[in-house]
Amino acid sequence: MTQSPSTGTLAVVGAGAMGRGIAQVFATHGWRVQLVDARPAAVSDAVAAIGQHLDRLVAKGSLSRDHATASMARLLPVDSLTALEPFDLAIEAVVEDAAVKRHVFEQLEAMARPQAILASNTSSLSIAAIAAACQQPERVIGLHFFNPAPLMKLVEVIPGARTTQAVTARATAIIQALGHHPVTVADRPGFLVNTLSRGYTGEALRILAEGVAEPSVVDHVMTRCLDFRMGPFEVLDLTGLDVSAAVMRQVYDGYWQEPRFQPTPGVAARVAAGLLGRKSGKGFYAYPPDPSSAAEPVAHALPLPPIWVEPGPWQLGATTLLRSLGAEVEAAARPSAAAIALVTPVGLDCTEAAARLTLCPARTVALDPLARWDRCRVVMAAPGADPAIGAAFANLLRRDGVPVCRIRDSAGFILQRLVVMMVQIACDAAQSRLAAPADIDRAAMLGLGYPQGPFAIARDLGITTVYDAAYRLFALTGEARYRPSPWLRRRARLSLPIDLDDSAD
Ligand code: NAI
Repeated sequence: MTQSPSTGTLAVVGAGAMGRGIAQVFATHGWRVQLVDARPAAVSDAVAAIGQHLDRLVAKGSLSRDHATASMARLLPVDSLTALEPFDLAIEAVVEDAAVKRHVFEQLEAMARPQAILASNTSSLSIAAIAAACQQPERVIGLHFFNPAPLMKLVEVIPGARTTQAVTARATAIIQALGHHPVTVADRPGFLVNTLSRGYTGEALRILAEGVAEPSVVDHVMTRCLDFRMGPFEVLDLTGLDVSAAVMRQVYDGYWQEPRFQPTPGVAARVAAGLLGRKSGKGFYAYPPDPSSAAEPVAHALPLPPIWVEPGPWQLGATTLLRSLGAEVEAAARPSAAAIALVTPVGLDCTEAAARLTLCPARTVALDPLARWDRCRVVMAAPGADPAIGAAFANLLRRDGVPVCRIRDSAGFILQRLVVMMVQIACDAAQSRLAAPADIDRAAMLGLGYPQGPFAIARDLGITTVYDAAYRLFALTGEARYRPSPWLRRRARLSLPIDLDDSAD
């Protein structure tokens, strides 16, 4: 870590989990850091915790002893808010209570240097509402660090309605000089990261509520096919369902019941039952894991019939795969009476795909064309399908050792639904100027740990394909949560890059 050119004196108010992490980041980058808390013991605990953390970094060789000693010397415990020395920047990290925060800002403003910036680390309260407690709301801003602040490099920089551009620019430069990554975000409910995260977990909960697949199957598909480090249900168990449920409600209500954010019935009951995740020992999974996890029942399978493949963009790839597994593939325009019909729908379920091609639904199977076939094969069939047909097809797909996930009929399978929701929420965010497209992808990667941002995922799968999936999902279900975003539609229809930003036009 090098000393940044933009250093000064900082006041951190609130020495809990966030305040101490923020204090450490600034102290190690050359800032004098005054640390104050309503509970004086919290300050001494924080200084001790920062000291231990820096010692560990020295032991690992990632910080010199001299740098650690100098950083500790820059930490200045202060007894009360009124005892603070003049400062250039204050960051408030007290309890998430609007009245308490507003009172802290009133007191801070009375002591701040004329050019000082007053920042809040709030994760959910409006910056404009906090700033309204001040005589000069134009110098109040949100600086939303993530936990733990030294490791999580993303910071949402949130100007309130009256914050000046100069204050936003200075705050952004300060964050950059710390080696963190600022993203500018509008002052809206959930800011950016908590809004983006609704797509991944929200649609997964929908899939569970519809009885399409179990949590382990959903997680398996997303980690294998799109390289997510954790599946959505693993994320919910890690975060705690009580915490996630509060964010779901906040974002849904904050956006006036926007259907894309609609919470799923059943979550409240799980919270009430204490199925919170890791912290309560049981959530969607058991901690430690339950050894008696059920294996898929072995269904009686037919000797493998010939397979007919739906014409279209995936016909050649599917035919090649099936032949490589030893299947006989029919080349005629229609399947023979003995054949299994394979469809590869985007945004449709197996029922609809079979009906549109007037195929026999009992002998039709659907394979998700967007899930990577070399890693995981996701298969579904219409209600009333012949179980022996489904079993024979799944057995064929397993022949080269690639896992097969069988789910109930679902428009958009699993991956397509999650991608449609993630991409469309990102598109809405760009369209409504919540944040710039590049910042949206950066926030998803740094704040949520996604392997790629939603725009990059859409680019890889094909923008037109994602748009088609959204369009058909909406048409088939009639649910407003899937309605195509105007941002996505225009870019797909005009063959433009999905992250094309027209805000400067
Ligand atoms: P915490 O409970 O660990 O610490 C809050 C501290 O504020 C306590 O030490 C408390 O004694 C002190 N405090 C309460 N009222 C005070 C007052 N009037 N004056 C001075 N000190 C006061 O809370 P945590 O987790 O550090 O959260 C702080 C803020 O950061 C909240 O606004 C929270 O929403 C936000 N945040 C929390 C994240 C997290 O993962 N914990 C992530 C990002 C933001």
